[in-house]
Amino acid sequence: MTSVLELPACVTVRAPAKVNLELFVGPAREDGYHALSTVYQAIGIHDDVTATLADEWGCSVRGRDADRVPTDESNLALRAARALADHTGGQEPVHLTIHKEIPVAGGMAGGSADAAAALVACDALWGTDVPKDELEEIAAGIGSDVPFLLHGGTAVGSGRGEVVTAVLAKGRYHWVFVPSLASGLSTPRVYAAFDERTAGTTLEEPQPSAALMSALRSGDASALAPVLDNDLQADAIGLQPAIGEVIESAMGFGALAAIVSGSGPTVAILADGAEGAIDLAVALTACGVAGDVLRATGPVQGAHILPTVRQL
Ligand code: C5P
Repeated sequence: MTSVLELPACVTVRAPAKVNLELFVGPAREDGYHALSTVYQAIGIHDDVTATLADEWGCSVRGRDADRVPTDESNLALRAARALADHTGGQEPVHLTIHKEIPVAGGMAGGSADAAAALVACDALWGTDVPKDELEEIAAGIGSDVPFLLHGGTAVGSGRGEVVTAVLAKGRYHWVFVPSLASGLSTPRVYAAFDERTAGTTLEEPQPSAALMSALRSGDASALAPVLDNDLQADAIGLQPAIGEVIESAMGFGALAAIVSGSGPTVAILADGAEGAIDLAVALTACGVAGDVLRATGPVQGAHILPTVRQL
């Protein structure tokens, strides 16, 4: 247990974005969510959240797409901080400073990453030392992807995505992400399009595929490429046809695979090594199909405390 005297004045936590290597969607549940079987991978594009004790609760956002993130009570990081305070019987208010690198509303779980980071940061700042399983439960109450972003690495998500189980995965994968299409896609809208498209069909309870598990055990990107899969891809493309053009161009430029990340609109492109990723990023930008391209490797660790404080 940390003594009060040792508590830090502020804590900065870094949390990663995610890509869904596989996203199988089952029937809608009574609570309105869909049963999911997904395989998440945490990738090296990060948001940093600094929690500082303050007179009142609040947050500010800097960096990429900052003007598109709410700073009121709907902010996921602030909601997570408040949920942890409630869970631990009330705490001093904090101000959260969020430094964004993860595209907003891109299907890469940027808001969920901020929530995961806020939980870890506030837990350390307040010295509440909440056990991991309780932190995961609070995380699940904030959003389906939040528990995975605490966890990181490569993992299966079941339930509505919030029940996380690590998988045996070898290798380091080189990704290129194209996020900058006209605007983000609302996750509920993509699920609603899925519901319309699958109305009248019987959906099975989704399960992780043996083919993906075996590709991950091999650690070979060219084995992983053909088994990447996303049940929401057709719906995301239906809502934003430019996504399909990015996928086609990426394949034309020699990508191993290109899929919609989560509910989109970000396209996740698997490259053949680090150089292959650079070549793809250059080609996609030069041909004009992508205004903005990010490169990252995965898997990386989940939300973790940074040893030094980011310059605010
Ligand atoms: O849990 P989260 O806030 O990430 O979910 C955002 C929205 O995505 C939900 O309100 C729901 O419309 C949709 N969703 C779903 N089934 C899931 C996860 C998300 O329908 N398993």
